[in-house]
Amino acid sequence: MTDHFEQSPPPELTTGDFSDSPEPFRLFAAWLKDADAKEVNDPNAMAVASVDETGMPDVRMVLLKAFDEAGFVFYTNFESKKGRELLATHKAALLFHWKTLRRQVRIRGTVEVVADAEADAYFASRARASRIGAWASKQSRPLESRFALEKAVAEYGLKYAIGEVPRPAYWSGFRVVPETIEFWHDRPFRLHDRIEFARTGANSAWEKVRLYP
Ligand SMILES: Cc1cc2nc3c(=O)[nH]c(=O)nc-3n(C[C@H](O)[C@H](O)[C@H](O)COP(=O)(O)O)c2cc1C
Repeated sequence: MTDHFEQSPPPELTTGDFSDSPEPFRLFAAWLKDADAKEVNDPNAMAVASVDETGMPDVRMVLLKAFDEAGFVFYTNFESKKGRELLATHKAALLFHWKTLRRQVRIRGTVEVVADAEADAYFASRARASRIGAWASKQSRPLESRFALEKAVAEYGLKYAIGEVPRPAYWSGFRVVPETIEFWHDRPFRLHDRIEFARTGANSAWEKVRLYP
């Protein structure tokens, strides 16, 4: 495996001035747009970290479905492992890594449940088969066989064969309201750029600090 840090410089070094950004949301939007143009798939994929009741951490990928100054939204089964942990602690960390761009964004914050109307609107926008899947999957609980899942899909497909597929009460969105957002960009010889925005609450001003790599 090559170590690009010690060898040729990475291809993209034109973004050193991202550290001039006075606030994180427009910068995040610009980086997500770059990722959308450059990454081979799922530019909106992010890791979500949570902890259980003993403080043991866990992490998994989800897809960012909306973001604005209010926070970063993803959808899931609230009875899943992550669902139960986030409902218990109301704290999460998010991580984006765009390999092609050699960029990373780290977010830490508090967790809110999105409004029912927002979850309904997103659920309605999903493919019908995905909506049926949300009913059929008891996410994170033991599944005796692939056949049992396919049977559940067939049963819910019949149940909702006519008309709209309603959103299950246990399926909704979490909004991570950021308290810190760190932008990292690869630079040669591990002398990376890191800029962290921090605020003490959702209505406070952002403070910006540059960090050693
Ligand atoms: C790229 C990618 C995107 C994913 N997006 C979601 C998502 O948006 N929501 C979700 O519930 N699971 C998503 N998953 C599956 C989760 O990583 C995870 O397997 C599942 O949610 C169960 O996690 P838990 O047991 O920690 O609750 C995604 C997986 C990958 C690899």
